[in-house]
Amino acid sequence: MKYDFDKIIDRKNTHAIKWDKHLLEEFFGTSDVLPLWVADMDFQCPQPLIEAMKQKAEEGIYGYSWHKTPEYFNAVTGWMKRRHDWEVDKDWIVYSPGIVPAINVMIRSFTHPGDKIIVQSPVYYPFFSTIKNNGRRIQNNQLIYENNKYSFDFDDFEEKAKDSSTKMFILCSPHNPVGRVWTKEELKKLGDICIENDVLIISDEIHHDLLLPGYEHTVFSKLSEDYNDHTIICTAPSKTFNVAGLQTSNIIIQNKKLRDTFTQGISGRNGLGIPNAFGISALISAYDEGEEWLEQVMEYIHENFKFLKAYLKKHLPDVHMATPEGTYLAWVDFSSLGMNDEERREFMLHKAKVALDGGTMFGKGGEEFERINVACPRRILEECMNRIRDALRE
Ligand SMILES: Cc1ncc(COP(=O)(O)O)c(C=O)c1O
Repeated sequence: MKYDFDKIIDRKNTHAIKWDKHLLEEFFGTSDVLPLWVADMDFQCPQPLIEAMKQKAEEGIYGYSWHKTPEYFNAVTGWMKRRHDWEVDKDWIVYSPGIVPAINVMIRSFTHPGDKIIVQSPVYYPFFSTIKNNGRRIQNNQLIYENNKYSFDFDDFEEKAKDSSTKMFILCSPHNPVGRVWTKEELKKLGDICIENDVLIISDEIHHDLLLPGYEHTVFSKLSEDYNDHTIICTAPSKTFNVAGLQTSNIIIQNKKLRDTFTQGISGRNGLGIPNAFGISALISAYDEGEEWLEQVMEYIHENFKFLKAYLKKHLPDVHMATPEGTYLAWVDFSSLGMNDEERREFMLHKAKVALDGGTMFGKGGEEFERINVACPRRILEECMNRIRDALRE
């Protein structure tokens, strides 16, 4: 079927974090804003998934639920094979209600207080809090930004991996917020450095399906058999199909010892092993029946990125966007405005009246940027940009 992503769906008063006025008041101090912040889409899910949710709702009993069925496993392994050319054994799959809870458990399971963990700023900010909140130390291997494109600083990475206190590396692949889809060559260099220095690789691939034309995602552990015992791959239908609220993720771990330790952490010590009743059905429907929708939504998102690029060129020629390769998050450099991050926050919220994710949250290198979520009807994106342009004219 043909989906209409131009349709504006009113998400106010639906408990959606992105649109909830109480939360906007609490977080931004105002709810009189157009929100393009939190990373979910303002689009409805694939129709078969909506039907599956209706069917589930009709059951009328929402008791404890169990996911370890052939249907569930086939949906996950089928998706990984079809979309990522990756043969996954069902025994490698461990359910987690989310990637962030899983990363918290991994940090506690595989490192000790005081150990160092590499992250690459600017990056998804919960990476920092999971490390800090668990009493570990951040080793920041800041990305390099040149000609609207980010790359890894391999020399600095190697130096940090060699530090005997460094035990783990949390990779964001594809990268939120900078929009890179890392190449095989780039990833292999990092992988080899980690193996040489006995650093455990956590590859957060939650954005793996959100690819713009011409870019190909590489599952980290596919790069070399040597990586299998040193890599944990985090996956979920959450971003791909806009079902983050159903809290269903799969952590894929080939090494049995690592897997058993993680399973004991997530279920045994944290009681997070029982899945969400709706999440199971959503995942099966998404992976089995959602491909047509995904193709269409990515076409629409691609057009939104093109629209934004053209808009900036025409109306705000000194504002530049990092070239997007994947995700639905535009990473936009507002340094030409000559405002510091506080002034820019004030400007966006109270002059332009838009709620974006200010770049400072994403760590060093993000200070001059705003993250704009383009997974919304084009008219909303245009309205957001008009507000910024008009406020600047004033
Ligand atoms: C890189 C990355 N990891 C994890 C998450 C969230 O994962 P979860 O909701 O499964 O905890 C996000 C959400 O934006 C993300 O961008």
